[in-house]
Amino acid sequence: MNAHLSSSHSPHDQRITAQAQTLLAQMTLNEKIGQMNQVHACDGFAPDYLGDEVRAGAIGSVINVEDPAAIRELQRLAVEESRLGIPLLVGRDVIHGFRTILPIPLGQAASWNPLLIERGAQVAASEAATVGINWTFSPMVDLARDPRWGRIAESFGEDVFLNQCCTRAMVEGYQGNNLTDAGSIAACVKHFAGYGAVESGRDYATTLVPELELRSVYLPPFQAGVDAGALSVMTSFSDLNGVPATGNAFLLRNVLREEWQFDGITLSDWDSVRQLTIHGVAENERDAAQQAVVAGVDMEMEGRSFLRHLESLANDGQVEIERIDEAVLNILSVKLKLGLFEQPYARRDELPPVLDGHALNVAQELATQSAVLLKNDEALLPLNSAKPLKVAVLGPLADAPYEQLGTWIFDGDANDSVTPLMTLRDRSNLALAVEPVFAHSRDRDRSRFDAAAECAASSDVALLFLGEESILSGEAHCRANIDLPGAQAELVARLRQTQTPLVAVVMAGRPLTLSNILGNVDALLYAWHPGTMAGPALVDLLFGEAVPSGKLPATLPLMVGQIPIYYNQKNTGKPPSPETVVHIDDIDTFAPQTSLGMTAFHLDAGYRPLFPFGFGLSYTTFDYSDTWVSAQQIAVDDSITVSSTVTNSGGREAEEVVQLYLRDKVGTVTRPVKELKGFQRVRLRPGEALEVSFVITPEARRFVGRQMVEEPGVGEFAVAIGGHSDVTLNTTFYVHPGSFD
Ligand code: NOJ
Repeated sequence: MNAHLSSSHSPHDQRITAQAQTLLAQMTLNEKIGQMNQVHACDGFAPDYLGDEVRAGAIGSVINVEDPAAIRELQRLAVEESRLGIPLLVGRDVIHGFRTILPIPLGQAASWNPLLIERGAQVAASEAATVGINWTFSPMVDLARDPRWGRIAESFGEDVFLNQCCTRAMVEGYQGNNLTDAGSIAACVKHFAGYGAVESGRDYATTLVPELELRSVYLPPFQAGVDAGALSVMTSFSDLNGVPATGNAFLLRNVLREEWQFDGITLSDWDSVRQLTIHGVAENERDAAQQAVVAGVDMEMEGRSFLRHLESLANDGQVEIERIDEAVLNILSVKLKLGLFEQPYARRDELPPVLDGHALNVAQELATQSAVLLKNDEALLPLNSAKPLKVAVLGPLADAPYEQLGTWIFDGDANDSVTPLMTLRDRSNLALAVEPVFAHSRDRDRSRFDAAAECAASSDVALLFLGEESILSGEAHCRANIDLPGAQAELVARLRQTQTPLVAVVMAGRPLTLSNILGNVDALLYAWHPGTMAGPALVDLLFGEAVPSGKLPATLPLMVGQIPIYYNQKNTGKPPSPETVVHIDDIDTFAPQTSLGMTAFHLDAGYRPLFPFGFGLSYTTFDYSDTWVSAQQIAVDDSITVSSTVTNSGGREAEEVVQLYLRDKVGTVTRPVKELKGFQRVRLRPGEALEVSFVITPEARRFVGRQMVEEPGVGEFAVAIGGHSDVTLNTTFYVHPGSFD
């Protein structure tokens, strides 16, 4: 991944537009409104329940029909029995895999491997297409800086650039090289926009995001998705600066259509049109429908307010027919682009079966590359099973086939999961002592603590599979306390009393606060929710058949009160430093008010997180040296190359995610202390050194200025290349505003 993201966006091609217009010209107002209507179907009864409406042309899309026969019958009714034969868009939340479940998106982002993420999305699309699904409501590209928010699990974490790379990879994976291929489905970037900034990480809560922040941080991943050709965009449930996203013309019209030239479908979220009344900006459902359509929503997901009110709104002149036509053209164009008029049905014969070897390999590789090694004292890992080893397997997530799949996996099946315990049982040379201790992650029953301690004490090593159940993250599943739930931390403290080395493997849907267990374990592998193939992926890592290479896509806070804490913060006028931090315990009692360092830190937490963005250990070590820039001074339109030598200074061949950070030292607005601008995964043998170079283009230096438009970055820049974000940027170059000789 290099610093510049190119655009592959193109307007409707003329043939598609002409076909869509020809069709539009034949449509009645009610048929047009029908296209703008997406409805939920009761599974199994779909054709009975919706058949007449499909036949009448009152439905443009269905959501949550996944039975292949039901989908086929609905499609048949649409193409053979409706007046104009317009096929249906068949939508489904295929969020991190269809039947083969990949790691949660946050875990995928931890792989920092867009190519692999793209392959994962291809697998998901192809499996979903086998049943006739042709539209996924993924990727969720809401940048998230608050691990309390349950939907951080569905996100790519806290960074703009990493988000953009993952967004593009997923969109391209779902949509394939050719939209009409049997295994290609339409992508949907969601939730437009600012949803990740919900107050206190409480899902659906208010979002107040200044335009500078919106344009600098929250919108760029959406733009990357649009530029990658995403065929649809979903609005957010939340309001943005006082205007709910589903009725927000600034977002839907000014930014999306006018600035970005988006020509796909804008879709509301589930019932979010009617919710404009609950937000308190619409008087009734009719008013809500009017506001949403006028603001720019093309299709309503479940809710039927368009179906009920658009005809009268159009007849009364409250919604212009041109606006309805525009929406319908967008919808028809997507259907045409997907080739649904020629091939409306699933083409199962052209696709591999679900859960085939390739799918499982991709899922395993993604799970392997997404695990982040956070601690490994005395090189405890990898474990050596060359000779017999007694292993205690403890904790509620060692054998939890459903929990390891993570949030929002409608079509995943726990019966397909391979758990760590299953994989450990298959290995030779291991004598396992198994004790789950808890029935689930929230369990507070301590009655098995002694049994667990006995297992640990009589073993060479204890593997503790800890974390959160999948239901504790995802939509509407937010937590104010993000410690390990239940009595898990107490268990770790109890086990520490044995002399047995402890390895914690944490499965979770978010960054958790680990301060209360970190000191009590010797090694810690952060696995997110790894999906179907958790077992083989994690066991390979534990025993060194694979080497950890994941890096944190989000900061791990020391404690929840630090949130939001992210690496690319602003410098402020009073930046903290080790010299200025004062700890609460060091303040004299009855001390008079003093300046106490007068910088931006917490008395009880300082200013550093537990682990910074981009961090992750390996079984080897990597050294960075000799950073140099190709020029000391450049002109504003010039690119510049930054290089460092990366040396594998340890004893294992391994992959490292080499990261480039840039700082624009003086801007017309305050700029972050550092920004990720590139990364590369490199593989090095022991002792091998490689010069890794990044090109920083003028585009990568641009930023949003005071007028809310992009400006070129000029003046002094500092740069660093390293293995995480906690690097010192001490190589500089200067960008002249004009030409420079
Ligand atoms: C609501 C969620 O916010 C959205 O992400 C999802 O796609 C829809 N429900 C459909 O399930």
